[in-house]
Amino acid sequence: MEMLDRAYFDHAATTPLDRRVLEAMLPYLSSLWGNPASLYAEAQEARRALDGARRDVAGVLGCKPQEVVFTSGGSESASLALRGVAYASRDRGNHIITSAVEHHAVLHTAERLEKEGFRVTYLPVDREGFVDLAELERAVGEETTLVSIMLANNEVGTIEPIEEAVRIIKGKNPRAAFHTDAVQATGAVEVSVERLGVDLLSIGAHKFYGPKGIGALYVRSRTPLQPQMLGGAQEKNRRAGTENVAHIVGMAKAMSLAYEEFDARNAHCRSLRDRLLDEVPDRVPYVHITGPKDRSRRLSNSFSCCFELIEGEAILIALDLQGVAASSGSACTTGSLEPSHVLTAMGLPLDLARGSLRLTVGKGNTMEEIDRLLEILPGTVSRLRALSPQWPEREAAEKRP
Ligand SMILES: Cc1ncc(COP(=O)(O)O)c(C=O)c1O
Repeated sequence: MEMLDRAYFDHAATTPLDRRVLEAMLPYLSSLWGNPASLYAEAQEARRALDGARRDVAGVLGCKPQEVVFTSGGSESASLALRGVAYASRDRGNHIITSAVEHHAVLHTAERLEKEGFRVTYLPVDREGFVDLAELERAVGEETTLVSIMLANNEVGTIEPIEEAVRIIKGKNPRAAFHTDAVQATGAVEVSVERLGVDLLSIGAHKFYGPKGIGALYVRSRTPLQPQMLGGAQEKNRRAGTENVAHIVGMAKAMSLAYEEFDARNAHCRSLRDRLLDEVPDRVPYVHITGPKDRSRRLSNSFSCCFELIEGEAILIALDLQGVAASSGSACTTGSLEPSHVLTAMGLPLDLARGSLRLTVGKGNTMEEIDRLLEILPGTVSRLRALSPQWPEREAAEKRP
């Protein structure tokens, strides 16, 4: 497929692999193929790489290397955090708190735990996607063993007040473990576990220019965690299976680069995002920006909105035909006609939530690409709206004095 003239605005779904990351990985996909658990020289090279990568990831998170567990990605990290803590703490209580706007990796795991006998509270959010901290304070009790609230939302970019939420939890029940899903936040927000105060934190490499199928879970020392993948003693008995050395090396490299280049990358994304936030409402009628109004409280790369009287899927197809890759929300709901659970939890009416568009920019995007999008978007929206049976009436109502 000819991709040269295309503009990719779906970095929340995944990011391209950074060339420097690929180069760091290549030796471990070719000559250095030993199993890090073995004792001979070939294995020791792999062991050294694994240990180095663990130190690098721990360095960015500000934790001890032994507190990092490598997994197959963000979903597995979140699932291990929730199931691992819920089952390891079952003798102390069976109550879990999470939010209504979590990624399905957390929500579906929480729903399964509910079926297995745990009690789960789903915290509501306000119109901008912020978790209701008063409800959090009311919900936490002696029986609560785990709280899981995301650091940043993948659909509308809301950065949740995790430090405050942790203070509330630890003030009322210091033994409750706090997990944050930082999959979308990594690279866009500082992820120091000490500053955040969390006990567990999930990351996934493919959101910050690393490879797919690799992630990590930070687990604070002495946090009870029952392994979910059983077998060998890898990852200090917390996750069995021969480590994916090349991908782990790639993730560590991608994470180091993301924080070495943090200021430049985020300033660049912010300038592109701000142009979208400024211009789209001016150029397209009947559009509602979703997510936080305060731009410092939304991810630097995230623009999201809902168009009245259009299906989000129709915009995506029309944009794709014009060379633009965009999303209606999370990649996992693409293909489903259900409106996003995030937008409905934020109180958007169903028909408006169906007209959602998410544009997430990255370090490779240019202002020229944004300009091109801003040129094609108004015409695309008005052509699609003209097909809506409600449009003539809506237009006439607007024209009435
Ligand atoms: C907030 C959030 N959590 C979890 C995940 C799942 O991560 P992975 O694709 O690495 O399994 C995603 C991916 O979209 C996400 O955005």
